[in-house]
Amino acid sequence: MEQVKIMHLPKIEDQRGNLSFIEEENHIPFKVKRTYWIYDVPGGQLRGGHAFKEQQEFIVALSGSFDVVIDNGKTKQTFTLNRSYYGLYISAGLWRQMQNFSTNSLALIMSSTHYNELDYIRDYQKYKKFRREYDR
Ligand code: TYD
Repeated sequence: MEQVKIMHLPKIEDQRGNLSFIEEENHIPFKVKRTYWIYDVPGGQLRGGHAFKEQQEFIVALSGSFDVVIDNGKTKQTFTLNRSYYGLYISAGLWRQMQNFSTNSLALIMSSTHYNELDYIRDYQKYKKFRREYDR
């Protein structure tokens, strides 16, 4: 069953500043096989624009803000990430696009899989077909 969920992370505040952390299988429901980050995105650029068959992921705006648009083939939902103490969990099987990156934004993505191009669905029509089979 696909799922998209904002997850709040611990935030330890003191006079020296704030600290947040993520533990696999605790704050996020999978083991982390890969972490990558997206930065220096020119204004108006889109990232993502694909789905994963297997990969689950967790996205945090470590700095700045951006929107993540989730599309299950029927409806779209937009999540704005703009704090480093929460993130968006996205299960497999969902089309997602990232947009409206603010200047100097930094997106951290934790993934349940190693990089595998074969896990991507990059063609929206193929995604719709995948969803029709998935939803049956
Ligand atoms: P892609 O996943 O399409 O980026 P985005 O979803 O942010 O638009 O990846 C862009 C390129 O980087 C593509 O050629 C694959 C490569 N890549 C890796 O080699 N390893 C990785 O872990 C990721 C995420 C991408």
